[in-house]
Amino acid sequence: MKILQNNEAMAYHVLPPYGLLNDPNGLVHFKGLTHIFFQWNPHKTDHSYKAWGHAVTTDFVSYTYYEPALQPEEHYEKNGCYSGSALVHEDKLYLFYTGNVKNDEGERESYQCVAVSDDGFTFTKLGAVIGIVPGYTSHVRDPKVFRGDSGEFYMILGAQRTDLTGDTIVYRSLDLLQWEWMGSLCDDKEPFGYMWECPDLVRFKEHDAFILSPQGLAPIDYRFNNIFQTGYWSGKFIHGKFVKNNSSFEELDRGFEFYAPQTFILPDKRVLLIGWMGTMEKAKEEALPTIKDRWAHHLSLPRELSMNVNGKCIQRPVKELMHRFRLKDSVNGSDTVISSEQVFLLEVKSETNIVNMQLRLATDVKVIVERGWFKVERVSWLNGDKEIRQVPLTEALTHLQIFKDNTSIEIFLNLGEEVFSLRSFDTNLNTKIVCQSSNSVTLTLSSFVG
Ligand code: FRU
Repeated sequence: MKILQNNEAMAYHVLPPYGLLNDPNGLVHFKGLTHIFFQWNPHKTDHSYKAWGHAVTTDFVSYTYYEPALQPEEHYEKNGCYSGSALVHEDKLYLFYTGNVKNDEGERESYQCVAVSDDGFTFTKLGAVIGIVPGYTSHVRDPKVFRGDSGEFYMILGAQRTDLTGDTIVYRSLDLLQWEWMGSLCDDKEPFGYMWECPDLVRFKEHDAFILSPQGLAPIDYRFNNIFQTGYWSGKFIHGKFVKNNSSFEELDRGFEFYAPQTFILPDKRVLLIGWMGTMEKAKEEALPTIKDRWAHHLSLPRELSMNVNGKCIQRPVKELMHRFRLKDSVNGSDTVISSEQVFLLEVKSETNIVNMQLRLATDVKVIVERGWFKVERVSWLNGDKEIRQVPLTEALTHLQIFKDNTSIEIFLNLGEEVFSLRSFDTNLNTKIVCQSSNSVTLTLSSFVG
């Protein structure tokens, strides 16, 4: 397989070598390597073509990029190899993906397809294993396949019912090729948006997480303010059904662009979650400052996902990345300035609680803590508008980890209780981080050492 030249625009994120990247696909650890596939248009920075790009890593910091693992070649995928997942079975790597077809009448058809590999690099397509689904429109896609408790396999799919409401549907198989229809994943039929994309199911000890990217939710004050949403319900997956706890759908990321995440399990049992940064209005996408350098979007840094006893998802930056930063400077006080480079890790700590704070991270990004709210304020690269995302603080805020890479920022609150991610295109080479706080806080700045 041909190795592609790295795009050096980001220090430690998965990004397209050129062209446009969207969802992470087929995340898997196979024969000693972690494979991160992704939706990729290598020809243009738009959505007109979808192949599976391919990055490989052993440390979640440096990535080797290979030519696409799947490209639209066959009739059942002729308009795109859409998103999907991977599973290792009997020493082989299986990829499950959606073949997107626009027929001669210009209508969409969706096929769930399988490809298999012995080495993780060259794949043999086995064709479509699921076609039209009665009761659903042609918007059926993004297969996530996982093992059940007794040797069976489940496939869950994002779908749209013919009444134009979103759903997740389930199939079961014993051999990964013949799939038996099992119905909707959840029995409650409350309408929740017009389409559900990229469903995922993670099984923890006490609770399970049903992760989803629904489209068509109206904003409810501080929630659901992006174009499309990503979040989860906690509950229990039993024999092909997900029974929700009495919990609401909680967003996984409170920032701006995070979308279509996928999880996978490492050999040491850590569950990693990686998302796309991300989804945005067309006008914003076309105005991305990176387009002039012929690339668009990147993946989030990998997050170690767990669930606490209350069924809340906790997300921490992958520990391998933490080891790649070296302490550069530390200041303490209520009125501090620290100069930084473009790529850094900033930790903000308080002994008790950060009550009021204004933290300027870059010329276009401010973090504000006031009256029990945590806010991120950004200046839009499209039109200079001020954009705000926020979340109420339910616990004392004592710890922030802020990862700044060349064109994005990811902020973890209180060791993963909340995460805010956002694109940010500060072009100043020497940035000053300015912090004003009502009580004394410690800022610790570390440089990325690669
Ligand atoms: C989510 C999504 C998926 C689809 C893919 C196509 O961003 O729309 O539902 O498979 O992107 O690129």
